[in-house]
Order: sequence, then C-alpha cells, then structure tokens
Amino acid sequence: MLIALLPGDGIGPEVIAETVRVLDRVTDQLRFETAPVGGAAYKAEGHPLPPATLDLAKRAKAILFGAVGDPDCDRLERHLRPEQAILGLRKELGLFANLRPATLFKELADASALRPEVAGAIDMVIIRELNGDVYFGEKGMRKTASGRREGYDIMSYDEDEVARIARVGFETARARRGKLCSVDKANVLETSQLWRDVVIEVSAEFPDIELSHMYVDNAAMQLVRNPGQFDVIVTGNLFGDILSDQASMCAGSIGMLPSASLDANQKGLYEPIHGSAPDIAGQGKANPLATILSAAMMLRYSLGLAAEADRIEAAVATALENGARTLDLGGKLTTTQMGDAVLAAL
Ligand code: IPM
Ligand code: MG
Repeated sequence: MLIALLPGDGIGPEVIAETVRVLDRVTDQLRFETAPVGGAAYKAEGHPLPPATLDLAKRAKAILFGAVGDPDCDRLERHLRPEQAILGLRKELGLFANLRPATLFKELADASALRPEVAGAIDMVIIRELNGDVYFGEKGMRKTASGRREGYDIMSYDEDEVARIARVGFETARARRGKLCSVDKANVLETSQLWRDVVIEVSAEFPDIELSHMYVDNAAMQLVRNPGQFDVIVTGNLFGDILSDQASMCAGSIGMLPSASLDANQKGLYEPIHGSAPDIAGQGKANPLATILSAAMMLRYSLGLAAEADRIEAAVATALENGARTLDLGGKLTTTQMGDAVLAAL
C-alpha cells in the first residue's frame, strides 16, 4: 500500500523519520514515497504544494504529514505561504472531517497544565470541520471609504457542510460514550445559528445520542475547568483549531496529540496537531509521539491494520511507563531516543 510521506518544514522531517522506523517494525505492507511540501517545497520548487506532491497525495492510499510553517516565508503573498499547502491538500482531497482525540496517558498526569485529578478524566475526541468556515471564505485587503486599510475574511457554512460533519460527530459519539457537544457562537454569529439548527435537525437520526450545545467561549473555559465532561465535541474549522490546541495542553503536551483528516471514503491525511516549531528544528528536541500516534490512526482508519495500530499505541504507553520523556514532557530524550524507546517497547 502506497503511503505519501510529506515531511514539510521545521521539525516535520525529524518526527516523520522516527515514525517511519516504527511503521517498518510493525508491518511490511507499506511502500513510501516522499515529496516536498510547505516552505521546503517553496524553496525547492517555487510553490508550497507542487503538482507532483498533490499528485502523489492523490495516488497514495494514505498521507503521513509532518508540519508546515517557515518564518522565512511569512512575508510571501498568501497563496505562496507554507500553510497553503495543508489547506490546499485538505480542500483538494475533500478531507472535511478532522478527528483530534485528546486522552491523557496516565503516566503524563504530571505534565498536564491542569491538576492531576482534573486532567486524569480527559478522554475526548474533537471533530473539527476542515473544508469550510472563515478559512476558505472570500478574503482580502481593501480600503474603507475614508481610505483606511481594512482586512476581511468571510465566515460561512452551508447546511450540507454542517450536516455531513454533524453526522461524523454523532457516529463518533455512538462508538464511544454516546455524548455529543456541538460548539458554536450562535448568540452572535448567523453562521453558528445555522450550524446549531442543522445539528438539531440531524440529531433526529440519532435518538440514542445525548446532544448538547455550548458557546465557544464557555467551551474554552469548561475544557480547563472540567474536561472530563466531554466525550465528543463537534465544531467548525476555526473554533476547532483553537480548542484542539487548548485540549492538547490539558492532556499533557502539544507533542502528544495525533490527528486524522478524512474524506467521505476513509481516505485520510494523518498529522500531529502541532506545528513546525522552527525554534527547535534540527536539534533533536522534538517529541515524535504525536506523529507516531497519527500513524497508528492511519493504520486503523485508512489501511485496515487495527492490530498493528493497537501495538503502536501500546508501545507508546509502555515507553512512557518506562520513563521515556522528551523535553516538552520534562525529560531529556532526543527525538531519536524517543523513537528508540518506542521500538524497544515493540
Ligand atoms: C492545524 C494548524 C493549521 C490550521 C495551520 C498550519 C494552517 O494550525 O492543523 O491546526 O490552522 O488548520
Ligand atoms: Mg492549529
């Protein structure tokens, strides 16, 4: 099975390298092809998502993605910036459903920003819509009537976009504890009012699921106050971006959270939720576990290798139990040493 490896920028190549070592250990069914993406692709080929990279992503059975973002590129025209590569892949491949599980490995209770008894209860999945919202609306810079500069980004969702991600939320909840919390800002935004109305309509198909609604500001507070109350959260692209970073710190470290971005047929792109961390790139300081756990999700959701996925997740837990810690977890291991610890546990 062909896997597209898109390491990208910053710490991306380091964490992908460790992940490939782990994948090679658990299965010989994968074939890897690598292509540049993000700032690395811009520097090599003049575009953050070159046609050959997009083509590889389309041909592959699944995509393993590192990270994009490069301070050298921050002043480029927007369509040439590294971030456009991941946004382009999500859109071009129709990857509309982003699953971001946040669970606390019990060994990491002391690494959480929250008190251990609060953090210990964290076991949720954030389902983030990935193809719409303010991310993909009309945007630009213009002048006001009085000649002042004005930036704008249009936020919108149509009802079909909301209904399809709502169904992913309900189905995810059905496979877990049966609770779905839809997060919006319906007290202020029309986009959110439609979101809420459509989620309620879709809920008629899922009478067994306990549905609740929460405003995003309250959700941000509740994630810190009592994160154990959440089973599945479903929300839009922008709110999901923000809340998932927050949830990651509640669960110990942003270096721990994997993600899957799926289309309607379980084809997926798998990436850690963290960014390219240019400040520590190339120094062996990055935690590869979020990417290794993303690869486990890839085996489970896109490749039908659930047993191998279980083995990887168990090995990560064992490595942590044995005290393996990278810098972000308060330890001293390098990226490669953390990879070694997972391989040893396998
Ligand atoms: C994420 C990232 C991306 C996003 C960036 C790199 C465009 O923050 O995947 O959460 O905003 O979606
Ligand atoms: Mg983000």
